[in-house]
Amino acid sequence: MKVLITYFTQSGQLKSILDQFSRPFLDTAEIDWVEVKPTNPFPFPWTSESFYQAMPETVLEQPMAISPLQFKHEKYDLVIIGYQPWFLSPSLPLTSLFAQEEFRKRVFGTQIITVIGARNMWLNAQESVKRFIQQSGGKLVANIPLVDKHPNLLSAVSIVHWMMTGKKERKWGVFPLPGVSDADIKSASKCGELVLNSIHNGKLNNVQEQLVADGWINIPTTILFIEQRAKKLFRLWATLIKRKESSGNRALWLKVFRVYLVVALYMVAPILLTVYSIFFRPFTQRSINRKKAYFCSIQLQSE
Ligand SMILES: Cc1cc2nc3c(=O)[nH]c(=O)nc-3n(C[C@H](O)[C@H](O)[C@H](O)COP(=O)(O)O)c2cc1C
Repeated sequence: MKVLITYFTQSGQLKSILDQFSRPFLDTAEIDWVEVKPTNPFPFPWTSESFYQAMPETVLEQPMAISPLQFKHEKYDLVIIGYQPWFLSPSLPLTSLFAQEEFRKRVFGTQIITVIGARNMWLNAQESVKRFIQQSGGKLVANIPLVDKHPNLLSAVSIVHWMMTGKKERKWGVFPLPGVSDADIKSASKCGELVLNSIHNGKLNNVQEQLVADGWINIPTTILFIEQRAKKLFRLWATLIKRKESSGNRALWLKVFRVYLVVALYMVAPILLTVYSIFFRPFTQRSINRKKAYFCSIQLQSE
């Protein structure tokens, strides 16, 4: 069996997840690892400015230049795509990967698995990736999202510390460790085993149901609530900032967006969530369950 694994990673977290996920495949599969490398690399650690600079193009899914991809084979039996969300969208290197005809050719007619290494908001990004795969003629068979399971506001603080210092450590020794926990990274090999068994049993088409039934994918209601609203606003901001570019005001509007993001995340969202939980949530439980089931699945709703 020929397996292609593509990924981009800054800290190495996603590569560690994929190493674990692919471990069970080592005996029976020939794995071709292809790393996506932007021609102008993003800094890591990030500066505050470079971090926000990445927002408009990422959200509007405007591909950037990447180094030529070297594939060992023309076709693969399975393609595993590892990626991370940026600003509720696929990271720009991942979007750029799908802009490559050489990659799309290998996705065409092939079974695809996506593996995500996120903070905790991957729903909108995965909708885009489902669309990329569909447009390339691939067949998504499974999605395995690994996240930081700490409370949203704590993990937001700790990931900023990680991204801005490059150190995956507890901020001030107080905040939780950022990123996907070591235990969860290790557990990715169990998912790999499940997927491999389902390939051997000819049941790969049902493996997502199995992953969900086994509790591998959990979507907190708070995250669903935020993601359903925030992406539309991010698109408006990204479009506005791109428009301001021609008059030389991009940097200024990115600063305004930065203030907006902090206020929205730490003040507006908690207030709205509290009001929603007290007054509305009991009446919307069925629709919440339906939406969670959809995002846990590999289906793509037409927009
Ligand atoms: C610019 C930027 C934006 C990010 N936005 C999100 C996001 O919207 N949702 C999320 O869950 N994680 C987000 N993250 C975290 C990443 O998905 C990822 O977990 C982290 O960058 C580590 O990935 P790595 O393997 O590339 O080091 C963001 C990270 C960066 C650098």
